Amino acid sequence: MSQSRHLLTNCCIMAKPTTRFVCQSCGAVTAKWAGRCETCGEWNTVAEEPAEARPGPAARPGRKLALEPLTGTAAPPPRRLVGIGELDRVLGGGLVAASAVLVGGDPGIGKSTLLLQAAASMARAGSRVLYVSGEEAVDQIRLRARRLGLADAPLSLAASINVRDIAAVLESERDLSLVVIDSIQTMWLDNIESAPGTVTQVRASGFELIRIAKQRGFSLFLVGHVTKEGTLAGPRVLEHMVDAVLHFEGDRGHQFRILRGTKNRFGATDEIGVFEMTDRGLAEVANPSALFLAERRGHIAGSAVFAGLEGSRPVLLEIQALLSANPGGSPRRSVVGWDGGRLSMLLAVLDARCDLKLSALDVYLNVAGGLRITEPAADLAVAAALASAATGRPTHAGAVYFGEVGLSGEVRQVAQADARLKEAAKLGFERAVLPRRVARGNRAPATEGMVLDEIGHLADLVKQFTG
Ligand code: TYD
Ligand code: MG
Repeated sequence: MSQSRHLLTNCCIMAKPTTRFVCQSCGAVTAKWAGRCETCGEWNTVAEEPAEARPGPAARPGRKLALEPLTGTAAPPPRRLVGIGELDRVLGGGLVAASAVLVGGDPGIGKSTLLLQAAASMARAGSRVLYVSGEEAVDQIRLRARRLGLADAPLSLAASINVRDIAAVLESERDLSLVVIDSIQTMWLDNIESAPGTVTQVRASGFELIRIAKQRGFSLFLVGHVTKEGTLAGPRVLEHMVDAVLHFEGDRGHQFRILRGTKNRFGATDEIGVFEMTDRGLAEVANPSALFLAERRGHIAGSAVFAGLEGSRPVLLEIQALLSANPGGSPRRSVVGWDGGRLSMLLAVLDARCDLKLSALDVYLNVAGGLRITEPAADLAVAAALASAATGRPTHAGAVYFGEVGLSGEVRQVAQADARLKEAAKLGFERAVLPRRVARGNRAPATEGMVLDEIGHLADLVKQFTG
């Protein structure tokens, strides 16, 4: 009896797992391996990692916390401008001291270039800046800096993947303003057995670096590579630890790049920064509409200009639609840069409320330039492109379109009509097709010469093409 109890205890000790299985995409932990992560549904992302050390007995009793009242004065956090306007805007007006920012993006999209430019800009303005690369040797960074025309910036460089070594520098340096870690997937803490890039390493390394940033009061940029599926692999587990998450995105076939805030404890998250890739690095694009419309050719059926809004900024984009006869089978719906479900809804409304029958045709929809639109305000522009493609009649060459469409075909108000109109006027558009305006106050002087074609129902728009 006593012997069997002894055996039982023994086998319980033996059964304690020494490894565990961690999804490298979402960080979910399971006891056994699976081809597909049950939490996020990704395939081939579950990897074996050593189990994390169990917390031992507390080293010291908890200290009594000082409790504070909610009322009291809270000063806005001190900020430093990076000096790159598009980046400062996405950050919410510059970098907050003692904050951590994760910059994600596909490999090769330009993260290192952007952050080297940011680091150099702050260093030139007199801040102490340290750029740590785990991917490139110091000479390679120097070469890159020379190519970008930044070789004279008083910037400190280090090439290392060892978080303990980096931490020693960070803790001994005085007056550091900014530290860039490129990339978090290369960082390695020696007391953790897993390889660099695994969820366990990324989490522990990130935690350590963020802790020092908070303690020493410098701003920290962490670079994280994403997978082709668009999720932050590995670095995803850092999203809740950092103060801001920025995504650097763009299409390899296009020269522009968009920096998009997806989380920001100190500012709005819907801001974008627009950059153009040049052989001298990333150039800020002060007027994105002009860039997005640069290749537009007027008087072609199936194209309409959408007056959109990205964050607080109006942006004009070209929407292209192509219809082609489907020789039997189920018609194709192919959408680039917009929501496929939204397109189906719009096609149904055009069919049911406006008698525009497109259901038997293949429909291709494209937001030219590679930008992704999430605003329902694009409905009217998409409908215009579709109606134009269906009838073979071009949209008015000098017109922009915006407005949300409801299921009964009604055209609904959208936010910031004035800002959209102003942007269109600035680029020489002389007409806007838009929802009926409720507030009929004074128009902004810039838009006074514009013809406003207010539309209450989608059928009124379709009539402009069929009538
Ligand atoms: P890089 O910044 O290294 O991308 P990431 O750090 O995201 O992997 O940029 C990839 C390559 O593109 C690199 O060889 C430099 C080149 N490049 C330019 O020539 N001009 C640019 O404006 C940018 C952003 C990149
Ligand atoms: Mg890089």
